[in-house]
Amino acid sequence: MRVTVESTELSKKKTSVLCGFIVEGTKRVIGLDSMGSEIDRAVRDSVSETGGKLGKISIVNTMGKIPAERILLAGLGKKDKITGDTIRFVSGKIAQRAREFGLANFAVIAPDDSIYDKVSAVSCIVEGAKLSLYAFDQFKKKKAEKSPDLFVIASKSPGIVRAVKSADIIADSVIFARDLANLPPNECSPDMLGKTAKKLCAKKSRLRCKVIEKAELKKEGFGGIFAVGQGSRNEPRLIVMEYSGADKSKRPVVIVGKAVTFDTGGISLKPGEKMDEMKFDKCGGCAVFGIIRAVEELKLPINIVGIVPSVENMPGGGSYRPGDIIKLYGGKTAEIINTDAEGRLILADALSYGEKRYSPKETVDLATLTGACIVALGTNVAGMVSSNDRLADKIINASKRTAEDVWRLPINDDYIDMIKSDVADMKNMGIGRAAGAITAAAFLKNAIEKTPWAHLDIAGVAWTQAATKKRPYNPSGATGFGVRLIVDYLSQ
Ligand code: BES
Ligand code: ZN
Ligand code: ZN
Repeated sequence: MRVTVESTELSKKKTSVLCGFIVEGTKRVIGLDSMGSEIDRAVRDSVSETGGKLGKISIVNTMGKIPAERILLAGLGKKDKITGDTIRFVSGKIAQRAREFGLANFAVIAPDDSIYDKVSAVSCIVEGAKLSLYAFDQFKKKKAEKSPDLFVIASKSPGIVRAVKSADIIADSVIFARDLANLPPNECSPDMLGKTAKKLCAKKSRLRCKVIEKAELKKEGFGGIFAVGQGSRNEPRLIVMEYSGADKSKRPVVIVGKAVTFDTGGISLKPGEKMDEMKFDKCGGCAVFGIIRAVEELKLPINIVGIVPSVENMPGGGSYRPGDIIKLYGGKTAEIINTDAEGRLILADALSYGEKRYSPKETVDLATLTGACIVALGTNVAGMVSSNDRLADKIINASKRTAEDVWRLPINDDYIDMIKSDVADMKNMGIGRAAGAITAAAFLKNAIEKTPWAHLDIAGVAWTQAATKKRPYNPSGATGFGVRLIVDYLSQ
């Protein structure tokens, strides 16, 4: 799907379908001027038909009177309820309709500032359209229908042109993350992710990639990654991607992502039901790939390090066991209570490594860490735990703009006490099911000494599940959650 922005006069625009928005209860199509009395009348009738209700679409034939073959009218709902996400949502509906009809292209008239900030609106149009036409069909003979091209009709001011370009890059980066995350576990191993990182960074002057393999992980003391990875024939990796967009003296932001290419639970084996979904246990790491890709293409003037610990958690003769005591990269020891609580072990190593090696300004991690987070918040909101209010607020602001929702959970020493062990510095599980999302975060907090840190538990939002709210821009499978959120936070 190609995206272009243009300020063509509507009565001259040649397109398969010219698309405009309507606010509920109004008679006017935003930005659509008179197209001649016959078309105007047909449009008026059509407007009263749908009433501008959110997501409702009607189509008017232009009878060859203007170059546009049809006019599509899409409801935005009530004016005081319109947000950026409304536009993202409706733009997605329009795009899906255009594809259903097999159209070659569609032109969307951007709403003006009286409806929503114009620059944000064009970004939402682009994101909504591109992400809604995503399909993971590389393993199917019958592919999804071809995506129509998008024309955004708006004034070609530098701000608008930049916004469209950025949104296009960001949407492609979300798609990059989804494509990786949707891969089945027989195709996507830690080694394959390492190779993907190398390819992503190749020939990019601002990107450098390092992949640490099994022997070196052991030698350098990555006890968590090594232990979790030791039960699988697919060896563990620690993937590090450095982006330099600013002077070397500027401290980087470190972004860590959990990439368990398949989580069986290990010796503490998971039940069989829905175990296939544990191919999505790599979604945090895949989001980091998408973030690095976006930051590089956007050429953001900052330094960033993406760190992705990757393992496959399997049961077998070589697996780590409940009862084992391991030593993490940061120097603390952990008693293993449950081998299914593997994410915190590999993340702890990566977080400590990030802090020691890079002295970051801030560290953020993304992980499909706990089922408890789904119990607490459901499948439309990510859980956030942070040691720093300023950082947490920045992420909450980014969340409001991107509609990648997060809700902050508390943390204090009582939770840290819940992971104390009798035989080691800590244990990899709290007390029963109590506050499972927070005790997991408490384990991570122990891996960081002083850096402002925020942890995002994306277990509920990383892919579409039964209770996931239907949004056209999140078709079934991996959502790429975190790419838009973190790129927004990094752009602030
Ligand atoms: N990858 C899972 C968490 C998960 C479960 C994500 C379901 C998405 C959907 C994680 O490694 C895990 O198994 N966590 C355990 C921790 C427990 C053993 C302390 C959990 O949440 O049950
Ligand atoms: Zn697990
Ligand atoms: Zn897991």
